[in-house]
Formats: sequence, C-alpha cells, structure tokens
Amino acid sequence: MTRLVCDANVALKWFHSDGEPQVQEARALAVAAGDGVLELSVLDLTYFEVGNALASKLRWAASRIAALLSQLPAITGEPLRLSLGEMFVTADLAVSHGLSFYDASYWAAARSVEADLATLDSALLAVSFARGAPSADLLPADAVREAAERALTDDWKRALSYGTGIGHPELCAWIADQHGLDPSQVMVTNGSLEAGALLFEHLVAPSDRVVVEQPSYDRTLLLLERIGAERVGVPLEADGIDVDALDSALGAAPAKLVHLIPNFHNPAGCTLSDEKRRRVVEIAARHDCWIFEDDPYGEVGFEGERLATLLSLDGAGRVIHASSFSKTVSPGVRIGYLAGPADEIKALAKRANEIYISPNMLAESIVLELCRSGGLARNIELVNAALKQRRDALVAALREHVPEADFVIPAGGYFLWLTLDADVDCTELLAAAEQERVVFIPGRDFMLEGGESSLRLSFASTPPDQIPEGVQRLARALERVRSAAPA
Ligand SMILES: Cc1ncc(COP(=O)(O)O)c(C=O)c1O
Repeated sequence: MTRLVCDANVALKWFHSDGEPQVQEARALAVAAGDGVLELSVLDLTYFEVGNALASKLRWAASRIAALLSQLPAITGEPLRLSLGEMFVTADLAVSHGLSFYDASYWAAARSVEADLATLDSALLAVSFARGAPSADLLPADAVREAAERALTDDWKRALSYGTGIGHPELCAWIADQHGLDPSQVMVTNGSLEAGALLFEHLVAPSDRVVVEQPSYDRTLLLLERIGAERVGVPLEADGIDVDALDSALGAAPAKLVHLIPNFHNPAGCTLSDEKRRRVVEIAARHDCWIFEDDPYGEVGFEGERLATLLSLDGAGRVIHASSFSKTVSPGVRIGYLAGPADEIKALAKRANEIYISPNMLAESIVLELCRSGGLARNIELVNAALKQRRDALVAALREHVPEADFVIPAGGYFLWLTLDADVDCTELLAAAEQERVVFIPGRDFMLEGGESSLRLSFASTPPDQIPEGVQRLARALERVRSAAPA
C-alpha cells in the first residue's frame, strides 16, 4: 500500500489556509499524528479532505489523484515520503509540466514545502520549439466569450442549425469583401487543412504530378502521398520558391497543381517576393496548371505592407486561395476558407455538403461577430506584437549561442528554419536536446528527401522569457552531439 507521510503542522496550516470548514479534520489529523508525523494510505486520501482539497485546487477528480498515487508502489516499492505541501507542489508540477507524479515528486521532495515554484519551473520545464500553435496566453478567451454571447443572442437560429456546404453566408460575404471578391467565390471550411484536403481530392488524381516547395508543410506532403500524387519538389530560396526551377519542373512534364505557402512559410519562415508572385502566376498560367495558395499566416506579419495575394494577381482563373482564423482568433475555432473561381467553389461546396453537410455554424457565427465588432483586428494586433517579441528573442539568442546557424529571419508567422553545419544530424540532435529539455521538429519531416542538418523552431508556443534558456539548451545539445561524434 502506498503511504504518505504528512507533517501534522503542515496539514493544519494547509487546511486553515484553504479557508474551508476542514479545520475539524485537520485537527483530527494533527491529534492522530501524535509525534507530528501522520501516515495516510492512498485510500485515506480519497476519503479525507486532503484528497478533496488537492482535487479541488487542481480541478481533478479525487479518484484521479488516487489513481495517480496508486501507481507509485510499482515504481518505487517504497512509501512516498511527502508532506501535504510537497504533495501539492508535486501534483501541480505534474500537471503543469506533463510529468508523471513520480517524476514530479522527485523534484518536489528535494525541496522544502515552501519551494519556490518559479525555480522548480525553470529547472523542469521542457522548452518547446516544436508546437506550431500559440501558447495559451495568446488565446483571446474573453473576446471569444463575449462574441459567443452576442452570436447566441443575435444569430442563434443560424448558429445552431445546419447550414450548407459553403457555411455561414454572412461570413462568406465578409471574407469575400476583404478579398474584393463576389461571395459566390468563397466557402468556409473547418480549418484550412480541411480546405486543402478537399481541394486535393477535387483536383488531384492518383499519379498526377503536384509541385511542392522544399521544405513544405508536412501535412500537405502527407495528404498528397495518401492520394497517390507524384510529388515534385522545387527548392525554396530566401524570397520564396525558385521560379526558374518551377518553370523547368512544369516544362519537364505537365503538373496538375503547384502548392505554395506565400507568407511566413511553414516551416521555412520565408516570404514570396512581390516580383516572384507575378512570375509564379504567369508560369502557372503558361503551363495550364492550378496554384493552391495556402495562406494561413498572411495576417500575422510583423513589418511592412502585406503583399498582393496570388489570387488577386491571377488573370487566368487558375488560383485557389485558402486561409484561416486559426492564427488570428485561435486554432480551436477550426474556421478556414477557400476562395477562387465561382464554379470551382460551387463544386467544392457540393463535395463538402456530401461529406459533412456544413462547417461548424456556431463557430462561424462567433468568428463573424469578432470580424464585425473589430475584435478580430484588435486580436491580430496583440498577437503580432507578441509574436514579434518572440521572434526577436529567438533571433538574438541564436546569434549569441548558435553562431553557426544559418536562417532567414521570418517577417511574420510562427517558424524559423535553421540549417546547421552538414556534419549535424538533427534527429540525433533532437535526442540530445530532449535530454537537455528542449524540443523542436527535425527538418527531414518537411522534406521529400534530405533536410538532415535542418530543423524547425516555432517561436509561437514559447513565452519570450523562456526562449534564451531554450536556445542555450539547444547549444548544449549541439555540443553533446559533436563531442559524441567520432573524430
Ligand atoms: C501551411 C499551413 N497550411 C494549413 C495549416 C492548417 O491550419 P488550420 O487547419 O488550423 O487552418 C497550417 C497549420 O499550421 C499550415 O501551417
């Protein structure tokens, strides 16, 4: 049986400080303790207020705490000697850092009850440059809550009903207006990944050639692979796709589609220059080929003017544009859209309707509220300022601690693509980095082939004060890999 050894004084203090009527139990515990130390079984924990208080503080079910604790004997074979205060710290650490209770207890037990959580935090926290998502502090919970309230007051019938394949018509109209299009040229989807998947299924047949940038968004590569397309890689440069190589690839054999991420590329961080945009549109029209402009990051720019979309430059009706509210509102709303020639949108909306009837109408209604009320614009400003600060912190730390790193400074978005010296294998580097408690995505995940000495760092998911520490850990991991390599 797992036993917890608790100091009666701590119990008393803790119960008191909780302010709840658990004083009686605390006194009883204190008396029972006699010499000041009380042993509780796991079972006791679920029944005594100890477990309940822990559970309510962490918003966990007491049974979950008991289940966690019951794993311990198998691991330790020893009673866990933690005071209640330490237990609290332990559980808190386990939750906030995704650790097992056992791992967290090791840290908590090494410190006093009054352990400075901030110190523990920085020692424990794995700095993640891996997640292509904003950290929770960048999510506009209040604005969305208020928009939801308004949506359910003013637009509840539509928000709570089935729609059609295009989604909420007023949101389509708002998006069309932003792009200077007719509403018949827009349909809403459940995120822009779904928009891409629909489009690929609509346009691409097995064995069709599809041009992809190298590197490119890993999920795009996967979707095309699943369809059985022949993926043709064309390299990226600091200002976007190599247009001459694109022209040659399309000249070598017909292709159905070119997939491009024009702004603040995932993973490469680069942006397609204005001059190249015009050339790309001209090249695709000449080779009678579709362009899929995959642009979820367009609004998340830190400097300068927004460049013209490929859609707006297209005179041949061969561009289909996708974007998303994932980066400007939140990924959880799952609202994206497609914009392009009306007859293609009509066919795509029919396909969408056959598969899922309509995209999520409630989420669309909420997003529409944010668009109309100015909440969207305010959030974009906040998010861009925060992301810029993170980008700057990352660039400065890389220059200081990993001077060999070669990268394009992203002018927006979430990602920085780092290329190290050719002797470094980033899969090995990741293993070393995990030991240093920092993570990233190795470059080969974004490549058809190669990419071993590159990696993607996301600065969206990491608060700026953790970025220098994360980069120093990366530098230490690099040293480890180098020192382990045969001379
Ligand atoms: C290039 C690119 N396209 C599409 C998506 C999908 O985004 P969502 O489905 O959240 O709109 C992402 C997400 O990170 C992306 O980076």
